[in-house]
Amino acid sequence: MKKTTLVLILGLSLTLFFSNCKDDNSDNNGLPPGAIELPSYTQRDGDPVAGYEYLVYGDYVGSGVPLQAYSISPLAGNAHNRLGRTGDNANVAYDFTAVNAPNGVRVVAANCLACHASVFRGELVVGMGASEANFTDDQSNLIPTIDLGMGVLYGNPSPEWEAYEPFRRAVLAVGPQTVTESQGVNPADKLAAVLAAHRNPEDLTWSENPLVEIPEAVPPTDVPAWWHMQKKNTMFYNALGRKDFARFMMSSSLLTVKDTVKAREIDGHFADVLAYLQTIEPPTFPNAVDETKVTQGEKIFNDECAQCHGTYGDNETYPNLLIRLDAIQTDPYIVESYDDYTQFVDWYNSSWFSQAPYDAFIEPERGYVAPPLDGIWATAPYLHNASVPTLEALLDSSKRPTYWERSFDSNDYDLDRVGWNYTERGSQVNKQTYDTTLLGYGNEGHYYGDALSDEEREQVMEYLKTL
Ligand code: HEC
Ligand code: HEC
Repeated sequence: MKKTTLVLILGLSLTLFFSNCKDDNSDNNGLPPGAIELPSYTQRDGDPVAGYEYLVYGDYVGSGVPLQAYSISPLAGNAHNRLGRTGDNANVAYDFTAVNAPNGVRVVAANCLACHASVFRGELVVGMGASEANFTDDQSNLIPTIDLGMGVLYGNPSPEWEAYEPFRRAVLAVGPQTVTESQGVNPADKLAAVLAAHRNPEDLTWSENPLVEIPEAVPPTDVPAWWHMQKKNTMFYNALGRKDFARFMMSSSLLTVKDTVKAREIDGHFADVLAYLQTIEPPTFPNAVDETKVTQGEKIFNDECAQCHGTYGDNETYPNLLIRLDAIQTDPYIVESYDDYTQFVDWYNSSWFSQAPYDAFIEPERGYVAPPLDGIWATAPYLHNASVPTLEALLDSSKRPTYWERSFDSNDYDLDRVGWNYTERGSQVNKQTYDTTLLGYGNEGHYYGDALSDEEREQVMEYLKTL
């Protein structure tokens, strides 16, 4: 055979080979590589006004420190009434609510805003993830001090102690299990697993000893913005949450709820809470933008990004895609953790939460949801594990810092690089340093911005500011 023929045949077979490979990757039923379409589920109707009311006044967590004791603590001095609440709640910080415990004692209980609201550039934004929250200490370390105060003020037994006890035992159980390596990431996945383990799946009564195995991993996550709930078909980063969203949201009550009688009543309010969440709009970018760049950026976005993140402005679209790990290449830890969370998944799917008519179920996927990008300018740090401080670094992976530290001052925000001002470090100097070399804290993957020129990236950034 002549050399040229050989080269020709070789060339031809190579071309065929590569075009086949390409077909495997890109011809994913017209979807982007690695994408899976997430099914949608019908949700209960609700009243957003009643939902907000219940969110900030409701007794979905019904145990805590007596209001009287809270009022004389240093916490009370910081109330500021940022929510403009009335009655005794006017003097309670936004992330707590004064409620009646089941025995009638007025207590101060944690609410959803502890993780789902943030003071950002000086103002409280309800629905913005609390990316400043600090879970690097074992929260149960506080219990002996609170016990001491409770003993002095009320004694044990007392109605006040009885009203405090469900909160106390929950914090003792979850505190040691939910410690994170850096400030600014949230252990909610693990929190849910620990609380479930201490609950009888049928009637939700508390068991001092865990009834199923508690998994090791504490996957660190960012807290997603609530204003995305009007677009999403599933809840959570790995599309875990299927069917009735309200039922998932009321799971927070597992912290202190007595049994399914109370759980059912709480559940009845959460269709309203969901309706409220679906009305929240993201904050708008405060500075002027360069309109020419915005127009250029929009075009690039629609070519390079919209197939996963949807389109914005008039006639919005959102494809609800999950991108498999092999394609997205971001830190796999949450996804892999769920391989060890099987007992939790089984617990949930056979528990009261899975009971019709408003049943929910858990189905972890091996990838991450491509989220809506509304209000993305305001929700740094980026990626599901909060590992990237700015949009600039998200879009150019060579700029992502390995060790970075922010001040956790809500005004220390960079509107040009779009994200938190940060200082690069050579190692993890303290818990305020985000260390991307730790298990679950990696900042790799999502390389879609790397192929753009500097100029194109600038244009896309300008466009992202307007979403
Ligand atoms: C301890 C912090 C914490 C508390 C308290 C908390 N959440 Fe969350 N929430 C999270 C985190 C973290 C996630 C993301 C977890 C994940 O996807 O792995 C989340 C996810 C969600 C989502 C899904 C968002 C999405 O885009 O998928 C909704 C809705 C939600 N929470 C509502 C609530 C409501 C309502 C309450 C109060 C009843 C509440 N949460 C209490 C931390 C918290
Ligand atoms: C193949 C699908 C896909 C493409 C194309 C894509 N993304 Fe993403 N994007 C994702 C997924 C999935 C995530 C979540 C990854 C994670 O958190 O681990 C994400 C996350 C993001 C985030 C962070 C969201 C947050 O709240 O932290 C931004 C910003 C973003 N993408 C912007 C873009 C831009 C701009 C482009 C185009 C240059 C783009 N993406 C192209 C799938 C995609």
